[in-house]
Amino acid sequence: MKKVDEVARECERAFAAMENAYAPYSGFRVGAALVAEDGTMFSGCNVENSAYPSGLCAERAAVAAAVTAGMRSYRLIVVATEADEPTPPCGMCRQVLVEFAPDLRIVSCTRGGGRAEWKLSDLLPHPFTPRSLEHA
Ligand code: THU
Repeated sequence: MKKVDEVARECERAFAAMENAYAPYSGFRVGAALVAEDGTMFSGCNVENSAYPSGLCAERAAVAAAVTAGMRSYRLIVVATEADEPTPPCGMCRQVLVEFAPDLRIVSCTRGGGRAEWKLSDLLPHPFTPRSLEHA
């Protein structure tokens, strides 16, 4: 499959994951499709909780699925929401993503065909990483 088709395919997967989102408190459903360096695909959705801070974002759910399967390096994550504009990952998700994929390609898509794309290194400059601990 050509790279140009990969984002479209991953948008579809992200929207499919979004359908399973558990977001009764915010009403903001999110799906994430994560592609590992070797092409293995994972997905996640947001999982909210009546104790609000216990909720989990879609991106971190996808990373948890990948790490559970033994995959720790990623090349692409696609995020899907029902917002009018493409939404970037929240700060906590950026931090979790940078642990495993500092140069990650991030795409966000909307139902209307809107797209935005970033590099994680642009969204999270000067990150705290495992190397930061070496200087303690
Ligand atoms: N959310 C995500 O799943 N990913 C993000 O990057 C931003 C926010 C979720 C968390 C919460 O369930 C809902 O969206 C509203 O913030």
